[in-house]
Amino acid sequence: MAFPANRMRRLRRTETLRTLVRETRLTPESLVYPLFICPGTGVRKEVRSMPGVFNLSIDEAVKEVRQTRALGVLSVILFGLPEKKDEVATGAWAEDGIVQRAARAIKSEVRDVVVMGDVCLCEYMSHGHCGIVKMNERAEPQSLGAAAAAPPVTAEYEIVNDASLELLARTSVSLARSGVDVIAPSDMMDGRVGAIRAALDGAGFENTPILSYAAKFSSGFYGPFREAADSAPQFGDRRSYQMDPANVREAMREIELDIEEGADMIMVKPAMPYLDVIAEARNRFDLPLAAYQVSGEYAMIEAAARNQWIDRERVMMEALISIRRAGASMILTYYAKEAAKLLA
Ligand code: PBG
Repeated sequence: MAFPANRMRRLRRTETLRTLVRETRLTPESLVYPLFICPGTGVRKEVRSMPGVFNLSIDEAVKEVRQTRALGVLSVILFGLPEKKDEVATGAWAEDGIVQRAARAIKSEVRDVVVMGDVCLCEYMSHGHCGIVKMNERAEPQSLGAAAAAPPVTAEYEIVNDASLELLARTSVSLARSGVDVIAPSDMMDGRVGAIRAALDGAGFENTPILSYAAKFSSGFYGPFREAADSAPQFGDRRSYQMDPANVREAMREIELDIEEGADMIMVKPAMPYLDVIAEARNRFDLPLAAYQVSGEYAMIEAAARNQWIDRERVMMEALISIRRAGASMILTYYAKEAAKLLA
């Protein structure tokens, strides 16, 4: 049957009709709120490139979680800004680490909140990489001449995979011990889900789930986060461990391997530039699927809105519903609190 029997506009006539036939819904329960925990008390320091996002001391974070939870957001994910950084990421796995202390405070003061712990080393490493760094000796040219012009065969540095696993596993156990409910590794080392699963089980945390940042792309959209978490690499970039933005089949393979290693939930990150990856993951896998609307996605909306080039609330909600429509069951977003308010 064609026009005029068919008229698509019939069901768009009123807001009630539109709501009735809406295919995808956004609910506060599907949002996860990222928090950046810093030392001190009474600290609320706004991140320059992320207006409305703050570095929070533990006491302020507790208040923030209480408010967000009251709005129906069930979960937060914690990132830490340690007092000191070193070459073995001590701040990530120390019993009195900043995230460990924050998790204890939040779990004891706010009821029924799911606390996720981002597991990565970059915020705690003096060099800002997500694993242990090995500097390689540069092959010195033997003589001046043809050989001198040849580029070095080995890279100047390497992020060592296997040695980093032990630190990631240690960090995960330490977070679980401090009350973190979900371990979320974002480092992109190979084999980390398996290593973390084994370490958690060995320490008696066989019931602690893993949300794996399975398909995490090496993205320019992380720029503002690196300011927020003070985690920019001091040299080089993350292309040797995070994924190439051009690859979707490889993303499926990453996810598959993480599931084999024991991931309970999987994540695609960033979100809006990778909606096809989310959709493909949703089609192929039946685990709960999260997507991370990252700092750059947030910052772009904020910047355009400040210039009055877009309607901020409208674009924020449209971006979030698009991520849901693509297939994400959960969205990690800096808009969690605000979106929940609008949805109330
Ligand atoms: C840590 C980590 C990053 C993000 C989450 N965990 C940054 C990175 O990989 O450089 C990005 C989050 C965001 O941009 O909002 N590795």
